[in-house]
Amino acid sequence: MSAIKILAIESSCDETSAAVIIDGKIMSNIICTQAIHEKYGGVIPESASRLHIKNIMPVVLEAMEKSNTTKPELSAIAYTQSPGLIGSLLVGSCFAKSMAQALSIPTIAVNHMQAHVLSNLIESPTPNFPFLCLTVSGGHTQIVVCHSPLEQEIIGSTIDDAAGEAFDKSAKMLGLPYPGGPLIDKYAQLGNPIKFKFAEPNIKNLDYSFSGLKTSILYFLQKQKKENPQFIEENLNDLCASIQHTIIKILMKKLILASKQTNIKEVCIAGGVSANSGLRKALKENAITQSWKTYIPKFEYCTDNAAMIAITAYYKFLKNEFADLQTTASARSL
Ligand code: KG4
Ligand code: ZN
Repeated sequence: MSAIKILAIESSCDETSAAVIIDGKIMSNIICTQAIHEKYGGVIPESASRLHIKNIMPVVLEAMEKSNTTKPELSAIAYTQSPGLIGSLLVGSCFAKSMAQALSIPTIAVNHMQAHVLSNLIESPTPNFPFLCLTVSGGHTQIVVCHSPLEQEIIGSTIDDAAGEAFDKSAKMLGLPYPGGPLIDKYAQLGNPIKFKFAEPNIKNLDYSFSGLKTSILYFLQKQKKENPQFIEENLNDLCASIQHTIIKILMKKLILASKQTNIKEVCIAGGVSANSGLRKALKENAITQSWKTYIPKFEYCTDNAAMIAITAYYKFLKNEFADLQTTASARSL
């Protein structure tokens, strides 16, 4: 049988990315991040779509070239179908469908969140099934039981803000630019994580909530700034460390509960926030205290990337799960 060669495209938010996977092995993963949003303090959907249009061709060509793959060799083209910004998704899906039509090959529609979980299958050692995955991104926070690559069960999710949002909104309150998550991570490494205490949610099941924490940080900062206008500047490292510590504590508490309830000890993290050094450290510490076997994707597979779309598409290809021309992009998870 000839090799299965898939081109995958990710364009759900502000990263234009393309990857090529050959027989389940990632051969290229090109990521072009749109820096323009930094000055607006968040992603401007219209600008994001326009930049995807500008970047998609060079990114795809580079991914093809780096993997030494020519268009006629491709078996299928995959794209992120949902969830995400609708304009951004449409750029990737229309590009993928047009190219596939021209080459007379099938397309594969991929769910972005399912793909984040499967980023843990890109490189060895890979987790054994069933495994738990804490998926923490800018728009979602989920605890997933992964029974097999394409059988994923969400057993907990956020009822309001996502973990990445909690990082980014806290950073904004501290006057840091977007996206603030990586900056909080950087300053936290120089600060005291137990200097300041913030509210933690009290939800009984496996769901998360971060809106109370956000309000607690806001009120605390307002009060402190009234007494000392330089409070943030003088305490930036300790504030970042304490905020990060609280978010990680909230995340780990439910992950530990999920492991106890399901009796699963193979535990992964995924999504943009899994790049956080404190969360990565906390997971490794719990590997010892909870007797877990833990897995963390390489940095380039944590934040949005097409390699995770490619690995998911590979498993879908093996099961003949192809999309038809009517499979449209959707802003919400289907
Ligand atoms: O998965 P992702 O790239 O995009 C979405 O699907 O949303 O996640 C982006 C999120 C942002 O909120 C960003 O601030 C956060 O991941 N993030 C981090 C770190 N790197 C990225 N948060 C905390 N620490 C980091 N090192
Ligand atoms: Zn993502």
